Amino acid sequence: MSVFDWVIQLIYVLAASCFVLGLHLMNNPATARRGNQVSTSGMATAVAATLAIIIHGHGISATGWIVMIAGALVGGGAGMYAARTVQMTAMPQLVSMFNAVGGGAAALVAVHDYMNAGASVSATTSVTTLLDVIIGSVTFSGSIIAAGKLQGVINSAPVTFPGARMVNMVLAAVAVGLGAYLIASPSTALLVIVIVAALAFGVSMVMPIGGADMPVVISLLNAFTGTAVAMAGFVIGNWALIIAGALVGASGGILTKLMADAMNRSIRNIIVGGFGTGDSVAAIAGPTGSVRSIAADDAAIQLAYASKVIIVPGYGLAAAQAQHEVAALADLLESRGIDVSYAIHPVAGRMPGHMNVLLAEANVPYPQLKEMDDVNPEFARTDVALVIGANDVTNPAARRPGTAISGMPILDVDQAKSIIVIKRSMGHGYAGIDNELYVDPKTSMYFADAKKALTEMTAAVKTLVG
Ligand code: TAP
Repeated sequence: MSVFDWVIQLIYVLAASCFVLGLHLMNNPATARRGNQVSTSGMATAVAATLAIIIHGHGISATGWIVMIAGALVGGGAGMYAARTVQMTAMPQLVSMFNAVGGGAAALVAVHDYMNAGASVSATTSVTTLLDVIIGSVTFSGSIIAAGKLQGVINSAPVTFPGARMVNMVLAAVAVGLGAYLIASPSTALLVIVIVAALAFGVSMVMPIGGADMPVVISLLNAFTGTAVAMAGFVIGNWALIIAGALVGASGGILTKLMADAMNRSIRNIIVGGFGTGDSVAAIAGPTGSVRSIAADDAAIQLAYASKVIIVPGYGLAAAQAQHEVAALADLLESRGIDVSYAIHPVAGRMPGHMNVLLAEANVPYPQLKEMDDVNPEFARTDVALVIGANDVTNPAARRPGTAISGMPILDVDQAKSIIVIKRSMGHGYAGIDNELYVDPKTSMYFADAKKALTEMTAAVKTLVG
């Protein structure tokens, strides 16, 4: 190995270390931003090292340079524009589009390598090449469908037809079976059939899944992207790519499992489809009763004279973009010596970490954010639980069998001495079922948009305490 090669390998070690360290820093909201910066510098280092290899090897024509620079400018520019302008609630579809690009690029690397190698390719290389082509193609088409469903460009309801599962199985069998055959007998025509079958499988896998389950599917496709990229690393013998892909694959897989567990669903159940159907156990009727609605003045009295308040944010807080208003109310209560914290359910909102990101935008101090297992024992000692646009994650129906959310871990909001719920109507949450919390005699409903309600409550508390 030449000195140049050694230096490049050392730079790749440095880049890979940055990826690992960056992921580690993302474990904690306080260090997550630094984690992103460390990972980005790792990626910039890896790209620079790869450019050095290209320049050193003189292995690229003038046209190649033009294509590469134009690709980097167009792709980099589009990525930067999309990331800077995306609304927080549209983040899952953006991630999905990035997955599509990653999976598609990995598949193209493998196709190029396969075409160049022809019959001379070794069995080990062609196994990874074909896995790369298949996984990358499935990720590409599946991610585009997932993004389209979330964006509303494609019908977000589960789209299925009789025999759909059989079609899926046939497509998977064609892609994998022909792929295996291609390892022994290279053929460009058969490779095209493998690609088409894998692309069609990506579409047919995601179409029957409802839009609301899409964040979990996107996380799964993210794991696929990582795996495809790791395979591309094997194909071109670049182990920085192997490590980066393996990290994405593993973390995407873990995240998918965590999200599915927090929704009490199996990954298989999500892929096979149909949310909100409940389990096979007969439903036991839940409590009934009347709903009590209150005005800002009543809410202000409860809040201003409490000694402990837990705020429970949910999807509605994000939809209303009321993060600054909730932070202002919390600051006001804290200035009166009230103990204020936020209860964060792992799947509150529509994407992992949705509430953490939202509250970080309003500079809510991280120590005030408490995870479900830590905060649940505190509800019994809480004077007021202020639920803002959260529904399913607070629904005691999860504790009974036979409901759409049976078994889903919830925030024990109903244990608080008093509960105020801000939402616009008696409308359902994502799971599409009534919330038994709303008929609890301790609960008062404040029917309004979260931003408006919080502004009114803050004003009422100020008026009350002078
Ligand atoms: P949801 O159960 O979806 O309830 C949100 C509530 O917000 C709705 O009932 C809605 O009631 C209210 N709302 C909407 N816009 C509002 C506004 N402008 N102002 C005030 N309220 C508003 O939310 P959640 O409790 O956060 O639970 C999340 C759900 O999403 C769970 O079922 C979870 O399994 C699912 N999910 C989460 C993820 C991730 S990773 N977070 C991924 C997939 C699925 P009104 O219409 O009456 O206002």
